[in-house]
Amino acid sequence: MLYRRFAIAPMMDWTDRHCRVFHRLMTRRARLYTEMLTTGAIIHGDRQRLLGFDASEHPVALQLGGSDPRDLATCARIGEDFGYDEINLNVGCPSDRVKDGRFGACLMAEPELVADGVRAMKDAVGIPVTVKCRIGIDDQDPELALDALARNVVAAGADMLVVHARKAWLNGLSPKENRDIPPLDYDRVYRLKATLPNVPIIINGGIAGIAQARQHLCHVDGVMLGRAAYQEPWQLLRADPELFGEPAPHATMKHVFEALMPYIEDQLARGTRLHSMTRHFVGAFHGVPGARAFRRHLAENGVRMGAGANVLRDAIALVDDQAMISAAA
Ligand SMILES: Cc1cc2nc3c(=O)[nH]c(=O)nc-3n(C[C@H](O)[C@H](O)[C@H](O)COP(=O)(O)O)c2cc1C
Repeated sequence: MLYRRFAIAPMMDWTDRHCRVFHRLMTRRARLYTEMLTTGAIIHGDRQRLLGFDASEHPVALQLGGSDPRDLATCARIGEDFGYDEINLNVGCPSDRVKDGRFGACLMAEPELVADGVRAMKDAVGIPVTVKCRIGIDDQDPELALDALARNVVAAGADMLVVHARKAWLNGLSPKENRDIPPLDYDRVYRLKATLPNVPIIINGGIAGIAQARQHLCHVDGVMLGRAAYQEPWQLLRADPELFGEPAPHATMKHVFEALMPYIEDQLARGTRLHSMTRHFVGAFHGVPGARAFRRHLAENGVRMGAGANVLRDAIALVDDQAMISAAA
């Protein structure tokens, strides 16, 4: 089942499997996304390392970067066999590496090729196939570019579109600048929804939290949060109550960490370094007394070789229990 209303964005180097397990303990309902994986990496790389994930992560989508329909179909099938719930095609990433490989945002200029890829993936798998795109690139007219992309991929069978509501400027801006400098145009995404009433449209870009997400839901089917979810993960405790009318999985961050501890201990036993997991927790206690001491303790002790779960426990003990962020806050 595709939960449309809320998702946490694919973010390279951030939304790895450890991060996703952490996020899942704050919201049962969010769709989670992997980092973008290129078709080349999946076809030639260590699949277990790249694609393995924890059963608790469902529903979780695999995001692919690529443009060759045959390779996309192969990778979609591999993803389905691994147990992913959705395959998402990246048509929004602006980095040079991606441009050279003819995938990511530059594909906004090749809607027919994107549609061929979607059709090939739809033929290959039974799970939903979705596309994440921008409203346009460079000097494209977003009215025409987004309509052309959407029309083509929907005709090819795409089950949902996620739209980062700004252009990507492929010459002259870094990927980071491309997430901030091109202006946001939410109305453009609302208009797309109006022209495609039967296609789930998810809005993304610059959405600060759950309260803003609720406002967007008056216009579109769902909201995807990226940086706000990662940098202020405590906001996720509000997602299930405020977007789905269901209790949060845990009342406080402290309970989230208690629930996470068996996973951390299991991963440590498998040889994962503590820091690979705790690096995602920097914003966990944002605004709570003791948050700085928590961060400092992790920064100083979590990176040491052989650091164990006690480092995290000691860091949590530095946070003021009484002020823990409650799901009801
Ligand atoms: C560190 C980082 C890595 C990202 N990596 C990806 C990626 O792999 N695939 C993708 O489609 N978007 C990627 N994005 C873009 C986000 O998915 C999202 O579209 C963008 O950050 C705008 O949403 P936000 O303002 O809520 O963060 C990345 C963003 C960040 C901050």
